[in-house]
Amino acid sequence: MTATVITGIAELVTNDEDLEGADHSEHLGRLHKAAVIVKDGLIAWVGPASRAPEADRRRDVGGRTVIPGFVDSHSHLVFAGDRSAEFAARMTGVKYDGGGIANSVWATRAASDDDLRALVVARIEEMRAQGTTTVEIKSGYGLSVEDEARSLRIAAEFTSETTFLGAHVVPPAYVDRRAEYVALVTGEMLSACAPHARWIDVFCEPRSAHAFTEEEARVVLSAGRDAGLGLRVHGNQLGPGPGARLAVEMGAASIDHCTFLSEEDIEALAAASDTTVATLLPGAEFSTRSRYPDARRLFDAGVSIALATDCNPGTCYSSSMPFVLALAVREMGLTPAEALRAATVGSAKSLRRNDIGVIRPGSRADLAVLDAPSYLHLSYRPGVPIASTLEERGRHGS
Ligand code: NIG
Ligand code: FE
Repeated sequence: MTATVITGIAELVTNDEDLEGADHSEHLGRLHKAAVIVKDGLIAWVGPASRAPEADRRRDVGGRTVIPGFVDSHSHLVFAGDRSAEFAARMTGVKYDGGGIANSVWATRAASDDDLRALVVARIEEMRAQGTTTVEIKSGYGLSVEDEARSLRIAAEFTSETTFLGAHVVPPAYVDRRAEYVALVTGEMLSACAPHARWIDVFCEPRSAHAFTEEEARVVLSAGRDAGLGLRVHGNQLGPGPGARLAVEMGAASIDHCTFLSEEDIEALAAASDTTVATLLPGAEFSTRSRYPDARRLFDAGVSIALATDCNPGTCYSSSMPFVLALAVREMGLTPAEALRAATVGSAKSLRRNDIGVIRPGSRADLAVLDAPSYLHLSYRPGVPIASTLEERGRHGS
């Protein structure tokens, strides 16, 4: 395989805290006038351009910034249908309670495999065009054995980070038979879905009539763990609740949303920071007109933090990690550096990955390029399309 040297990097953010000669303020491992050598899809060398070894090919990014590609560790890309009217209603005061998920379920079930696949492809292309190189994709709009398995099969065509979310909501047909639905999810549905999934997730939100209680969520997660899946939890989104505590108790890799956490929840998450990451999804707060999680408080308490889009038809139909970063800085009190780390190395940790989210020899060569002299422009220039993956940039010019 040929080696390619990437030059013309005005600023390189590596997240590598051991990189010699780098600026280690805010743990970014930054180099200026840097070069990176990529070989066989992996990073082979990182250092000052003046000391770059010879390579077979050269690629000049023309004085741009290079960062680790974004790791979007929470998305729901497999859906059909349109729920923009729900968004419009929320902007005039209607509250989100998860009820609209059923609308996406009908539309998703009615779509052909090819149509669903095309929708996923388009959404992933959108993500790549904005600098995302890894995406986690959940099921959750099938809610039958066949439709959940189909969603995961399609998701697995695009990522190894697939998550079984049969316990997204209790489908309308089961409202008076909740225990039967939990039995279906943990039985036949789990058996059909586990071969296509790495993770299991549950929407644990006792405040929503549609979502699952603490006890139901514990049953779902235990069954997933017994089937060999890693654990993730949707919780504390609509109000205070048991999700974060349950995630810590069960050693889940991630508790997602964390909009309403008690002091006890924060202490528990801080104590479990090696195991359980708090994944913040401020696009959902934006699109549901909710308050934002207090990321500053979490960070200062020692909680491990990730940022992701939650891209889904109900609470946040945005595929943009730069948008999420800008919200995290402007609305949740993170510094631009903390937000960038949360969206790369932090979200990689929530997927229990150390081969992504960082640029160091041996890691995957998943790179994003910014049309800017510094990473600060990510949140300084919100809404401006300065980020893309290196690959995407190659397709459209230097
Ligand atoms: O992460 N909260 C649960 N699930 C999604 C929203 C799903 C929908 O409304 O379609 C979320 O916000
Ligand atoms: Fe979600």
